[in-house]
Amino acid sequence: MAVTDGGAARVGSRACDDARMSRRGTRDRTPASTLLDPLGQPWPETGPPRRIAVLGSTGSIGRQTLEVADWLGAEVTALAAGRDVDGLLAQVERFRPALVSCAPEVADRVRAGLPVHTRLVPGAEGAREVATADVDSVVAAIPGFRGLGSVRAALAAGRHVALATKEAMVCAGPLVWREARAAGGRLTPVDSEHAGLYQALVGEAWEGVATLVLTASGGPFREGPADLSRVTPEQALRHPTWQMGPKVTIDSATLFNKGLEVIEASVLFDVELERIEVVVHPESIVHALVRFHDGSVKAQLGPHDMRLPILYALAAPERPSVPLAPLPLTGTLSFFAPDLGRFPCLALAYEAGRRGGTAPLVLNAADEVAVEAFVAGRLRFDAIPDVLERTLAAVPAADLSWDVLDEIDAAARSAAAEAVTAVAS
Ligand SMILES: NC(=O)c1ccc[n+]([C@@H]2O[C@H](COP(=O)([O-])OP(=O)(O)OC[C@H]3O[C@@H](n4cnc5c(N)ncnc54)[C@H](OP(=O)(O)O)[C@@H]3O)[C@@H](O)[C@H]2O)c1
Repeated sequence: MAVTDGGAARVGSRACDDARMSRRGTRDRTPASTLLDPLGQPWPETGPPRRIAVLGSTGSIGRQTLEVADWLGAEVTALAAGRDVDGLLAQVERFRPALVSCAPEVADRVRAGLPVHTRLVPGAEGAREVATADVDSVVAAIPGFRGLGSVRAALAAGRHVALATKEAMVCAGPLVWREARAAGGRLTPVDSEHAGLYQALVGEAWEGVATLVLTASGGPFREGPADLSRVTPEQALRHPTWQMGPKVTIDSATLFNKGLEVIEASVLFDVELERIEVVVHPESIVHALVRFHDGSVKAQLGPHDMRLPILYALAAPERPSVPLAPLPLTGTLSFFAPDLGRFPCLALAYEAGRRGGTAPLVLNAADEVAVEAFVAGRLRFDAIPDVLERTLAAVPAADLSWDVLDEIDAAARSAAAEAVTAVAS
């Protein structure tokens, strides 16, 4: 993807006239609106959002987003959650949103606890209303394929979406981009690795970029056991560095999460899969690196605290100060090649990405089914890749279009359920 800003051919930089730079480093800047961000979109002209909607507000990303909203002094006007009634009502009491959504099964309990000025719209329709609320930014953090509909709705309504729901890019990335471009919607990445790439690419020419590098913590089983067949859900849910929701935590333990992120990066930045590398970095301090043709490597570092990528996704290119201690610059940073023999899910994600079309959607559905079966005690941890491989083989890849998504997702789930039974027996 060649991103240019009227000939300057720089990614996301704001032109700077050195002659105007003072000794203190303060400089007069060209208005942000004249140049593009690393995804080829105009930078926002209005600074950090004043009004925010949150999809998946009671989850790990959702709760941290509300802390960031507090940092920014932003109003939270719409919240979508699932079944966590107490969590949602506590957020309503704190932020007084005009609109909330929840799972239909808990709607009566939520309604009973709402103040008069808060409107409730349950279910997928409610999530879509939250996604299209009159706000400056929508943070999308409903996990899985089910999070896609509200991402699409927000972009189709021309909203800025700070995207945590990586599955939206994996399952339908090209369609999501088309929707955004057609309606003037804007995307920024929340995933820490993609936020890291986004930051490392600011001011760079795409012509100079060789590869994008995502770091992986390696998960709880990086150093063992050699035999992964007896791993329990409790062990897999104990992530060494990040506190996240259950699905993404299990996916980190199989390295499937990194596979999703490779596909996400490829679609988000429009870079071929072969130019996306993965490196294991147990300290989770370096989130991403960009290799340049001149041999230089640029890294983005930060504490493993998701509030920071959420903040950048909302406020970029501004960098508001935060109430956190500075990152200590002591200790060791280590990097290893991933072990694809023990963690074949990563290689399977590259394979699905290479096949293209609906193959990543099929792989994602297979993993959602496999992880659910593993957590329920119906599938061994080391059998998860088998389920993915069998499902990929059973459901041929088709061309991607909004019309086929639900059908192919359903076919993949059914094939994956059969694979779980076959592998488990
Ligand atoms: N957590 C992280 O650090 C992290 C980092 C990078 C990317 N991500 C990505 O961000 C997304 C969210 O992850 P998470 O860890 O925050 O997940 P999580 O902790 O499991 O939270 C999921 C949230 O979505 C809500 N939800 C679930 N189904 C819903 C539906 N059908 N309609 C409306 N709301 C629904 C849940 O509601 P209830 O709890 O009320 O049921 C909860 O608020 C995932 O795609 C993940 O891969 C997460």
